[in-house]
Amino acid sequence: MKKIGIIGSGMVAQTLGAGFLQYGYSVMLGTRDESKLLDWQAGLGAEAKIGSFQEAASFGEVLVLAVKGIAAKAALDLIGDDLLKNKTIMDATNPIADRAPENGVLQFFTDQNGSLMEQLQAEFPEANLVKAFNSVGSAKMVNPTFEVKPSMFICGNNEQAKREVGEIVELFGWEVEDMGSAEAARAIEPLCMLWCIPGFLNNQWTHAFKLLK
Ligand SMILES: NC(=O)c1ccc[n+]([C@@H]2O[C@H](COP(=O)([O-])OP(=O)(O)OC[C@H]3O[C@@H](n4cnc5c(N)ncnc54)[C@H](OP(=O)(O)O)[C@@H]3O)[C@@H](O)[C@H]2O)c1
Repeated sequence: MKKIGIIGSGMVAQTLGAGFLQYGYSVMLGTRDESKLLDWQAGLGAEAKIGSFQEAASFGEVLVLAVKGIAAKAALDLIGDDLLKNKTIMDATNPIADRAPENGVLQFFTDQNGSLMEQLQAEFPEANLVKAFNSVGSAKMVNPTFEVKPSMFICGNNEQAKREVGEIVELFGWEVEDMGSAEAARAIEPLCMLWCIPGFLNNQWTHAFKLLK
């Protein structure tokens, strides 16, 4: 089984990390403050490791990016190009601005003709970013229980990296919907806005999207 390095310590990192462990992977979560992750680690056994962002990136054969969108570039800068080169990075981030939602609609720091993932891909051209898991709440990311299998929209420029991420998405209980190259993140990232509206307006946080065909 591949080793997974997760850049992040929040709910997404902890949930996906536990999911990978459940399926037999070794996992290292990366953070600037390891004390935040001691409880997470304590419940999960020897294959649950914690370290710095750099240590997690170095440990992982496949990486997951699960930091605050506004800090995503800073987090990857701390890791540096060398450790990111040729790595598949499953990118769960969203470009949420530090401003309150307007009538339940999140504000982004990107515009509609660009996306956070494209910005990161341009900054780190030798890494292979694949958008995934950004358009569902952490509670439903692993083994979601719905009457039908929900859809996970993914995109990225490297076909091998997308295959790798697609296998993870399927393993975690989702149908993969490959939307093509990195530009498709312009459409996939705003799904997070749509996903959050029922949450902010009606306190509903447990839905997921399905592409009917
Ligand atoms: N929460 C969800 O249900 C959900 C669902 C889908 C997608 N997402 C997206 O997934 C990402 C992670 O979400 P989350 O809720 O798990 O956590 P979060 O609170 O959005 O982010 C926490 C992480 O961001 C890092 N961070 C914050 N400021 C930083 C800075 N200045 N420099 C470097 N790193 C910094 C923290 O690093 P330290 O560990 O060092 O403190 C921590 O690992 C976000 O982009 C979010 O939009 C969230």
